[in-house]
Amino acid sequence: MQATITVLPGDGIGPEITAIAVSVLKDIATRYGHAFSFQEALFGGCAIDATGDSFPPETVKLCESGNAVLLGAVGGPKWSDPSAKVRPEQGLLALRAHFGLFANLRPVKAFDVLADHAPVRPELLKGVDILFIRELTGGVYFGERQEQGGGNSAWDTMIYSVQEVERVADVAFKAAQKRRKHLTSVDKANVLASSRLWRRTVDQVAKHYPDVTLEHALVDSFAMQMIKTPGRYDVVVAENMFGDILTDESAVLAGSLGMLPSASLGSGTFGVYEPIHGSAPDIAGKGIANPTGTILSAALLLRHSLGLEAEAAAIESAVKQVLEAGGRTSDIAEAGKPTLGSAEFGARIRAALEAIVVH
Ligand code: IPM
Ligand code: MN
Repeated sequence: MQATITVLPGDGIGPEITAIAVSVLKDIATRYGHAFSFQEALFGGCAIDATGDSFPPETVKLCESGNAVLLGAVGGPKWSDPSAKVRPEQGLLALRAHFGLFANLRPVKAFDVLADHAPVRPELLKGVDILFIRELTGGVYFGERQEQGGGNSAWDTMIYSVQEVERVADVAFKAAQKRRKHLTSVDKANVLASSRLWRRTVDQVAKHYPDVTLEHALVDSFAMQMIKTPGRYDVVVAENMFGDILTDESAVLAGSLGMLPSASLGSGTFGVYEPIHGSAPDIAGKGIANPTGTILSAALLLRHSLGLEAEAAAIESAVKQVLEAGGRTSDIAEAGKPTLGSAEFGARIRAALEAIVVH
């Protein structure tokens, strides 16, 4: 098949890790006979430096002209002055809003070979396989906000409409139907009006999916339970900010934030694919960042935007093989054990991919 992938490397470790994921995608194209073309554009802090805008019009146009976006990370100390008018993160929110990417899929799997050195006891991690679905274009991220009273007070608005909750709940129920048919909806309905609307709406949507068992959980208690008994969760749906916080927390189940991919989808096949971690300015340029989250995001791109399931599965299996053979970047390595740089780790994944038989 033919596809155009827009690459937005962004800031910090973004360029290093997207370059590796692109090389994996190029290998896939060669081996499976696809024609992928890649077009790169400025996004985030580097776009602010070059154009004054974190999501400049040329970048918007390029993204619109492609089938999917592969994104690294944005932000860094250079652009984090609290009084700054333009911020790299605004570009990210604008990108999600522009394409109506309301459903953010964040799969979290605990690899057995990493369990012994994860921050959580290995026996709790057996078989952990959770699909978080984070609402991505609503809630407090997109509600009105203001600083007022000469800096003495400030407010943000968490607002949801029934329709916004319905469409993300639909995605979550459909995903659960294809998995273990269990959905946990996370909210704070004992305090927030928007959460009571969320819960009521999810209950309504549930009537269309009688084969899926639905449970509601309060976000504070869920934050504890997902570490205590992670194995009992299948699909978890949450509003934007709760989903943001819970998925960073879930990284302790996977062993490192560097392991986790994401897919941001709307109503069509177009999607934005990015690791859930940030730009990690402390290690940028050192060639040691873990590219796994970005490589697995590339696999999600193949699956969700291009419908290439076998190719996606091949990447996922190559990653698993490298980890099982002991390949470790420094964030997932045992103290004192040898570690691989990003490029070497990427090369191992490409070699494993090479050995996978194409059917
Ligand atoms: C994420 C990030 C972003 C978010 C930031 C960089 C705006 O943390 O994708 O999870 O909060 O959505
Ligand atoms: Mn986040």
